[in-house]
Amino acid sequence: MDYLEIVGGNTLSGEVTISGAKNAALPIIAATILSDKPVTLTNLPNVVDICTLLKLLSMLGADVAHDKTVAAINNGSINSTKAVYEIVSKMRASILVLGPLLTRFGECEVSLPGGCAIGQRPIDLHLKALESMGATIEIKGGYVRAEAKDGLKGAKIVFDKITVGGTENIVMAAALAHGTTTILNAAKEPEVVQLCEMIADAGVKIEGIGSSELTIEGTCGKALEFKTVEIIPDRIEAGTYLCAGAITHSSITLNKVNHGHIRASIDKLESMGCTFELFDDSITIHPSPKLNAVNLITIEYPGFPTDMQAQFMALAILAKGESLIEERLFENRFMHVSELNRLGADIWLKGSTAAIKGVDTLYGAEVMATDLRASSALVLAGLVAQGTTKVGRIYHLDRGYDDLEGKLSKLGANITRKKEA
Ligand code: UD1
Repeated sequence: MDYLEIVGGNTLSGEVTISGAKNAALPIIAATILSDKPVTLTNLPNVVDICTLLKLLSMLGADVAHDKTVAAINNGSINSTKAVYEIVSKMRASILVLGPLLTRFGECEVSLPGGCAIGQRPIDLHLKALESMGATIEIKGGYVRAEAKDGLKGAKIVFDKITVGGTENIVMAAALAHGTTTILNAAKEPEVVQLCEMIADAGVKIEGIGSSELTIEGTCGKALEFKTVEIIPDRIEAGTYLCAGAITHSSITLNKVNHGHIRASIDKLESMGCTFELFDDSITIHPSPKLNAVNLITIEYPGFPTDMQAQFMALAILAKGESLIEERLFENRFMHVSELNRLGADIWLKGSTAAIKGVDTLYGAEVMATDLRASSALVLAGLVAQGTTKVGRIYHLDRGYDDLEGKLSKLGANITRKKEA
């Protein structure tokens, strides 16, 4: 198994180019199922999760040609509507094929995703919404079996909780449904916006894009024809590199970013003492010699993203005074705390809040990655810890960070991927 070896203490400098957003690319790949014509996706991040979903499409019978950042997909040849456990268990986001398969083919079977390191993550809201649209849903043998032989029907959906994946699944389902679907309490994340724009560009009338109320007029079963889609920049990858600049007190420039999408991270970094120069699609961070403590609560977009919580915890460890971080979205998203404490952090956990007392120094140690974003917090801490930090189980990182060690090495970090003997 691969691990990362990081020798802490290097100052970073130079520029890094941000890849396409994994969380935008995944629903967009799923949405290609709404079409029976070829479609090209560009600026895909070169990460394992993308390969996993493309493999799932191939297993359904799609014709997929994928080379790093570009995929040409033709879903005209799909001959199966069963998303098997072997793939879905690797990546929860595979559930995103449920809405598009059901709406295009009138039936499908998708394995239940099962447990996940950051909490239960149920899909009840996805299923309830599809039932409101006329689907018959049965859970049997670990699979969701969904049927809507005469097609889905437009409906008024009110999500009890804001759900990104749920909103995406229902937008896709509604695109080919009969009649108009209204989604209230919809997610407003930039990734949801790009999915809606892609579908609207294919001729589906969608009102309220970017708001919490979406209205979608379905095509009554007519498959869509998509234009080429260029995936938006990854706001979580960008935020992570800003944190790399902040924690190592280094001035670095990020290219290919959307400032608007990373506003919440910029605001928190400003409150910690960092300053920024914004250019068209790039940003330079000028770090503070000593970071201020930070208080933050994770919440839906445009609030502070849960996917940046672990990275900011790494910063808070070395800040002046005590920081408080409250996780409101996922009940078990503090798995990195015990690993960060192994590096010398002073973090105390009570329920969904972490109290972090700033320390002067971290010391390299062997640590384990527990989930995707938790892993990047360990890498950030390793960049400044005295001595060598070994981060194990980095398959989590490979799911979502495009060439993390390559990009950090180019900025001057001493980080190497190694194989367990
Ligand atoms: C997406 C992102 C993930 C991010 C999360 C929150 C992708 C591929 N993943 O995950 O990186 O951390 O949004 O911004 O885009 N919930 C239910 N029932 C449901 C669905 C969700 O109770 O049917 C709950 C979840 O357990 C969680 C909350 O709603 O507490 C938000 O989850 P959701 O927005 O659905 O997250 P994902 O789409 O899975």
